[in-house]
Amino acid sequence: MAQRYLIRTYGCQMNEHDSERIAGLLEGDGMVPAEGTDDADVIVLNTCCIRENADNKLYGTLGYLKSLKDDRPDLQIVVGGCLAQKDRELIQERAGHVDVVFGTHNVHRAAELMAEAREHGPILEILEETAADYLASFPTALPAKRDLPYASWVTIQIGCDNNCAFCIVPAVRGPEISRPFGELVAEVERLAAAGVLEVTLLGQNVNSYGRDLTTRLRTIDAGPADTYEAGEAWAIDERRRPRPLFADLLRAVGSIDGIERVRYTSPHPKDLRPETIAAMAETVAVCEHLHLPLQSGSDRILAAMHRGYTAARYLERLDAAVAGVPDLAVSTDIIVGFPGETEDDFEATLEVAAAAEYDYAYTFQYSPRPGTEAADMVDRYVDPATTNDRYERLRTVVERSARAKHQARIGRRERVVVEGPSKRDPSVTSGRTRQNKLVHFTAPQPLKPGTQADVVVVDAAAHYLMGEFREVVAVPRYRTHIPVTAAGVETPAPH
Ligand code: SAH
Ligand code: SF4
Ligand code: F3S
Repeated sequence: MAQRYLIRTYGCQMNEHDSERIAGLLEGDGMVPAEGTDDADVIVLNTCCIRENADNKLYGTLGYLKSLKDDRPDLQIVVGGCLAQKDRELIQERAGHVDVVFGTHNVHRAAELMAEAREHGPILEILEETAADYLASFPTALPAKRDLPYASWVTIQIGCDNNCAFCIVPAVRGPEISRPFGELVAEVERLAAAGVLEVTLLGQNVNSYGRDLTTRLRTIDAGPADTYEAGEAWAIDERRRPRPLFADLLRAVGSIDGIERVRYTSPHPKDLRPETIAAMAETVAVCEHLHLPLQSGSDRILAAMHRGYTAARYLERLDAAVAGVPDLAVSTDIIVGFPGETEDDFEATLEVAAAAEYDYAYTFQYSPRPGTEAADMVDRYVDPATTNDRYERLRTVVERSARAKHQARIGRRERVVVEGPSKRDPSVTSGRTRQNKLVHFTAPQPLKPGTQADVVVVDAAAHYLMGEFREVVAVPRYRTHIPVTAAGVETPAPH
């Protein structure tokens, strides 16, 4: 009987995508998904360490899994991801029943490590930097099964070269590496051929995509073969650029037949270029949604965070985007209680948040991360009660604009892509608009995920819209099973 696996994912889209790739590897080895912990032969925890409660959560979950493993010693417990990269040996020291620990630079080795552990006992493999074969594995080790069959994540860049004072990501994900332009286009073409209509381009700082690709190419006389690495605009176009821009990639991916929606996350405000806004406006497939992380509205705090912009600069860029892209929805990330944040600093954040009129915002209470610059500012830590109070005040401001933005859509006809039955009430269908808004509506017949339908918005809350079904516009084209190793993957052009 086939072995059954269960993957629990914590953290951001990068991790979700890594989990899909791990699932792809395991299914390639003949495993099948488990229903839950009870029938799983392997449990993989793909971890996150962006905030402290993630640590507590992992060790809590591992404690619970120990009792399962006591009953079923064959159960294999695997911990991967960012917290594994950070904690390394500590995981097996604190939880001796963990069979495999792997990090962020060797995700492609997950299945092999599990096989090795079955033979030889517990194993830990954490690499300091991204393995070359990890990068090479991207296009082939695609998931056998995605969460949403019509939509796919596409990692365009791994790691991060910024040094935001609060953030642990550079320490656990390593320096920025962009994937070759041609490889990304080929990957999306292949996804489109398999019926995927929506892609989300992923990176910690997507606007700096390509910065690292041309350093080598700049020193040689680039020819058409190098377009694989850096894209046509870089190598042969008469408007030749010093490097491929994220905007070039948006245009290239957005013009692939069958791709109806292109999303991306996250752009860094300091690197948001007019070219990106123009590409959004001029490429029909690119959705009218910009996630532009603010972090703080106080210039003093932004400087202490090393964010590289002021509040005025942020709003200027946001205004340019809103002016350039009709009907643009805007979302953000904000941290409250960064060390040294005063009431005045926080009020500046409230002001910027109100001025930006966000459609939604992810708000966080500052959490010190070991090894980051801000974690050492102990004498300036904001007391938890104050942080909590600010957090609630900020939420009120964000919800006000979110509700207003949503209410303004009442009466409009919107195109949604169906996600499936609503989680709360299966008789209700949920879909998403181009602006990334969730719409619940009653469909006259069950609609497969990926169906495109028109609805009229009849009601609005802060986090969703209610719609009235009008008509099905297109049915999905995807096949249920996408081969783990796809045939016809383009191999890199020789350099
Ligand atoms: N690369 C993305 C952010 C990735 S982390 C960017 O620069 O926009 C996602 C969000 O987690 C961040 O935007 C930030 O708001 C939050 N975050 C990161 N470190 C944090 C910390 N130490 N405490 C609280 N929130 C944090
Ligand atoms: Fe972290 Fe800043 Fe990099 Fe985002 S840009 S991942 S917040 S260091
Ligand atoms: Fe968490 Fe790692 Fe993402 S720390 S937020 S899973 S990059």
